[in-house]
Amino acid sequence: MILAPAMPAADAPAPFAPGPIVIWGYMGAGKSTVAERLAERLGFTMLDLDAYIVERVGMPVAACFAAQGETAFRVIEREALLAALDSGVQVLSVGGGALLDPELRARVRMLGTLVTLAVTPAVAARRLTASPAEAARRPLFDAGFAARFAERAAAYADADLIIDTDAATPDEVVTAVEGALRARRVL
Ligand code: S3P
Repeated sequence: MILAPAMPAADAPAPFAPGPIVIWGYMGAGKSTVAERLAERLGFTMLDLDAYIVERVGMPVAACFAAQGETAFRVIEREALLAALDSGVQVLSVGGGALLDPELRARVRMLGTLVTLAVTPAVAARRLTASPAEAARRPLFDAGFAARFAERAAAYADADLIIDTDAATPDEVVTAVEGALRARRVL
């Protein structure tokens, strides 16, 4: 006997599977805070990729850079990103260098929605300087901070949504992200 495959009724709503909302941008853009609050508002699961890496390697990011170097960190970061994307997590914040490879950006955009939180380097530097602990956590918050941003600017612009953060509080950014996701019918 041949069983016909179950077909959805013509008027059935499309299955809702928006894929992960990935929050990216330069250091100091507010990615982790915004991702956390967005997930909380929506009742979504959330993962911070740097925190996940720290858990996987058993040391802080700065120590990992010091012990193994940036190239090794990028390999670890890539593997962690792929595992996170596979995990089904709904909101994912990733470090400022995590999606510099265009193939990774394409993968994120194919699976879900890539949101860049835009920040100018002067504002980012001011935010990081205001918190010595936040500054110390970042091995690349150094003399090359503005030049590195300029090298990466085109990559940050390659996103589904770009939300300005320079003049906004974290909660205002969350509201802007949520509104933009709703406008795109991601939510
Ligand atoms: C990096 C950003 C950091 C962290 C690492 C490298 C970068 O995360 O992943 O220090 O290359 O921009 P934040 O963007 O959360 O500071």
